[in-house]
Amino acid sequence: MIISGTLPAHVQQAVNALCAGELLGLPTETVYGLAADARNENAVAKIFKTKGRPANHPLIVHVASADSVAHFASDVPAFANQLMSQFWPGPLTLILPRKAGQAAAAAGGQNSVGLRCPSHPVALEVLQACALKGVWGLAAPSANMFGRVSPTTAAHVQSELGQDLLILDGGACHVGIESTIVDCTRGVPVLLRPGQISRAQIEVACGLKLAHPTALQTESPRASGTLASHYAPAAKVRLMSATEWRQALEALGPHTQNLALWSFEKPATELMGAGFLWRGIPKQADLAAQQLFSVLRDFDARGVRNIWIETPPDLPEWEGVRDRLKRAAA
Ligand code: TXA
Ligand code: MG
Repeated sequence: MIISGTLPAHVQQAVNALCAGELLGLPTETVYGLAADARNENAVAKIFKTKGRPANHPLIVHVASADSVAHFASDVPAFANQLMSQFWPGPLTLILPRKAGQAAAAAGGQNSVGLRCPSHPVALEVLQACALKGVWGLAAPSANMFGRVSPTTAAHVQSELGQDLLILDGGACHVGIESTIVDCTRGVPVLLRPGQISRAQIEVACGLKLAHPTALQTESPRASGTLASHYAPAAKVRLMSATEWRQALEALGPHTQNLALWSFEKPATELMGAGFLWRGIPKQADLAAQQLFSVLRDFDARGVRNIWIETPPDLPEWEGVRDRLKRAAA
């Protein structure tokens, strides 16, 4: 059931459900999350079951502010505090040493915990109301079945997880791809997942270079979003250069049924056969990120079997989008 994030009574209903150990489809600025009280093991178990996600894959715990970090993490390094003060609330997740005995199930049994304070006003309202009731954090992975495309609208969540789930509608997500994840447990910051907040922004904010994970001796944490194949729509995704998709379209001639193309330039009319679908990639990386998952979902919903996507430029601002596209195509 979808309820409105702009109606106080509905927000209250969502908060009550969370505090009672129920699940909630929660809007954030990145993607919708499937939220539960991070310290309630039964509630967290429901997340893993609903998503079909292996229980050893850790979840991100969302908090109302940096003040709540101490409930879940200990020995927070100075550079992590700098990142929080610079980017929270916002699309940045920090992996921190987990406080003993806290949110073990949500952390997938690891001795670290991923924390994030989202900037979506509805998410913050829910988190603040939960904190007043002693629920200091909400575990929330993206609200999709394991390995599938993340949802960026309430309707996506419903089509992914069904009518029975309570979903708080906060509109379409502004960022559109998941948060940047920085591991802060290894003495130096390590980028685990690229997102809207770039490498350069992180390095400037904490005055440290991001370390390359393979250059470090310590063991790398598990991160499911970093599996080679992830964010996959039902259709087969192929990444191509502009020259490649043009040549491939010429070779197909009129046989373009069940084919969709997401590219910067529109193909010449004579190259677009029957049943062919085209959408333009915005030239601005932030806008492309915002549209990425809903474009993939839309193509799927129209029964497309093959999705061709023009590879975005190899520039820092495109890193998050390129990462998701590579995994969708894997
Ligand atoms: O933007 C986002 O981060 C969204 C919204 C809902 O906040 N959430 C999200 O959650 O993308 P999820 O579960 O789909 O991806 C979380 C990623 C996974 O790759 C997980 O393995 C990693 O974070 N992660 C969480 N806790 C971790 C930990 N303690 N150590 C290493 N990786 C962790
Ligand atoms: Mg996910």
